[in-house]
Amino acid sequence: MDLTTRYLGLRLRNPLVAGAGPLTGALDTIRRLEDYGAGAIVLPSIFEEQIEHEAELLESLIATGADSHPEAVGYFPASVSYDTGPGPYLDLVRRATEAVRIPIIASLNGITDHGWVDYARQIEEAGASALELNIYFIPADIEMTGRDVERRYVDILKAVKRTVRIPVAVKLGPYFSATGHMAMQLEQAGADGLVLFNRFYQPDIDLGRLALLSDLALSTAAEIRLPLLWIGVLAGRLKASLAASTGVESADEIVKYLLAGADVVMTTSALLRHGVEYMKVLREGLESWLAMREIETLDSLRGRMSQRNVMDPTAFERANYIKILQGLR
Ligand SMILES: Cc1cc2nc3c(=O)[nH]c(=O)nc-3n(C[C@H](O)[C@H](O)[C@H](O)COP(=O)(O)O)c2cc1C
Repeated sequence: MDLTTRYLGLRLRNPLVAGAGPLTGALDTIRRLEDYGAGAIVLPSIFEEQIEHEAELLESLIATGADSHPEAVGYFPASVSYDTGPGPYLDLVRRATEAVRIPIIASLNGITDHGWVDYARQIEEAGASALELNIYFIPADIEMTGRDVERRYVDILKAVKRTVRIPVAVKLGPYFSATGHMAMQLEQAGADGLVLFNRFYQPDIDLGRLALLSDLALSTAAEIRLPLLWIGVLAGRLKASLAASTGVESADEIVKYLLAGADVVMTTSALLRHGVEYMKVLREGLESWLAMREIETLDSLRGRMSQRNVMDPTAFERANYIKILQGLR
């Protein structure tokens, strides 16, 4: 059975990608994910503010140390060669690309213009096969318009594309007034792929302690519907690759995303819930689903249920909504 897949111009042995998350941040688990059959791996994001914060901490440590205990200066030389900055991340990129044969996709979350561009360049130099831009950004400033938000996405992408030659994917959230048009603008600005969608952290309130809860709940399979809708709508309309991300719990969700038109399917929560070996369960599940239906290649499956290919394209839009409501009555 041929599961080979093209994503961002790269050749993957199958469409299963270990999405960004804690399990892709260590060499040991990266190797095991390859052994269990992942087609590619997205490293966790490097966050610009984290790097800057660590550098500031060290600076202030040096300053305090130098002021309060003159003898301590020796411990903190003025020219710092400690592993702050992007060093450890770049090291991970380097070592991961050496350790496995499958593509290693780095992920960057910047804040400043120079942060996006500088770190993107360094990630490319470290040997990543591709770069995912995790533009995790909640426009909580109520003065900011939708157009401002869109421009920000496009500007970041253009600046990074001017800097690196490796393929670049943009991971975005679903909350745009016109998600399809946003996707088109990103493609026109040079995106080699889109990852649909990022799952924004949403706080809860602990009523006992009257405090904001900052836990990160893992996803469930019920959450595939929104990305499935947009993958289905965009498939066949863009040249950029499409990666589905959110809600993969079993091979069923993978098949659904492929049917809707995804080039690859990413999973993070399921691996955290069941362990890295679950990658094998997912891959075997996909293979047996295809084998039972005697489907030999993914190309004959991919996009078969996209909006362009279904008999009733309105099934993705409003007409179906009305039918459903009438059915309920
Ligand atoms: C614990 C945890 C850490 C994550 N870290 C990152 C990250 O560093 N960068 C990123 O782009 N996405 C990150 N994500 C989001 C996932 O990559 C993914 O897009 C999201 O969880 C939806 O996929 P899932 O339903 O398979 O979990 C993280 C998710 C979880 C649960």
